[in-house]
Amino acid sequence: MTDLADLEADLSARIAAAGDLAALDETRIAALGKTGAISSLLKTLGGMSPDERRAQGPLINGLRDRVAASIAARRTELEDAALEAELAAGALDLSLPAPPRRKGAVHPTMQVMDEMIAVFAEMGFSVAEGPDIEDDFHNFSALNFPPRHPAREMHDTFFLKPGPDGERRLLRTHTSPIQIRVMRRANVALGAPQFAVHQAPPIRIIGPGRVYRCDSDATHTPMFHQMEGLVIDRDIHMGHLKWTLDAFVRRFFEMDGVVTRFRPHHFPFTEPSAEMDVQCDRSGGAVKIGEGSDWLEILGGGMVHPNIIRICGLDPDEWQGFAFGMGIDRLAMLKYGLPDLRDTFGADVRWLAHYGFSAFADPNPASGLS
Ligand code: PHE
Repeated sequence: MTDLADLEADLSARIAAAGDLAALDETRIAALGKTGAISSLLKTLGGMSPDERRAQGPLINGLRDRVAASIAARRTELEDAALEAELAAGALDLSLPAPPRRKGAVHPTMQVMDEMIAVFAEMGFSVAEGPDIEDDFHNFSALNFPPRHPAREMHDTFFLKPGPDGERRLLRTHTSPIQIRVMRRANVALGAPQFAVHQAPPIRIIGPGRVYRCDSDATHTPMFHQMEGLVIDRDIHMGHLKWTLDAFVRRFFEMDGVVTRFRPHHFPFTEPSAEMDVQCDRSGGAVKIGEGSDWLEILGGGMVHPNIIRICGLDPDEWQGFAFGMGIDRLAMLKYGLPDLRDTFGADVRWLAHYGFSAFADPNPASGLS
């Protein structure tokens, strides 16, 4: 009996004296480990007479439970103390400013492209795309440019070396080939199986993308961005085009009073064709939209030429539509006051830091629009 009381007193003293978790663990092993003092006592129960075991069993088991509990309690104490010490040693100064992090910025062209997509998406347009490297068919022939017609030169085309098939591909000079690709896909839905099925008329798409022309000055760069628009349906007329573009301009510039005007123009792929100008003021050096007595051309458009509807396998007596194409970079210059188009593609991060947009400033993807 006294042995057990002595053992308990000794273990209790050691547990209380354990200064860290390692010392405590040593005591635990000495008491409760495989060959520990209490474990050895428990083993002797097997060799006792039933009466002895009945007397000793509860005593030894009780000792084991009490020792295990005080070890656990001491462990908690030691762990709490260790945490306190750690917090005290490495005190955090939450008032210090965070170290600066380099942040990227959204390029104004991409920002404006997103804003334009948001405006047209609200009107029910979806986004279509086409390749930057086009063939003559999609960029010119299917768009009603006559063979060897100077109109092809008008676009200052970048041609690639002829491929193995002898075809001289080119960098698309406008986004209008997207019209052809969409309409020919649409045609499939009406029966011709050679293209992937996407959508049958009615069609309502915009096609943003890069375009290329051999041209460079303050308002022209060899690569720039356009947004194509195409609507094909029954009974579509010029009034629909004008309304759509007027509504776009007001929403895009976030100005209700923007005045536009349509001037007759010529494109081989639209008839009639027009260019649209917005009212602006140039007197102060920078161009201001929505006031003044000047005009600035921002896009070309018109009614899709019946030849194009036909070449895309649709019947022009059944389907009509309008199309337009506008320069995204030019709209970015106007909306956000960018002075020189060439800087837009100068890849100077200081320019981007100044004119760029934060990707996270506003959860609304069209962050420039209210
Ligand atoms: N593709 C023409 C251009 O680049 C713009 C345009 C598109 C005109 C669609 C009419 C219809 O100048």
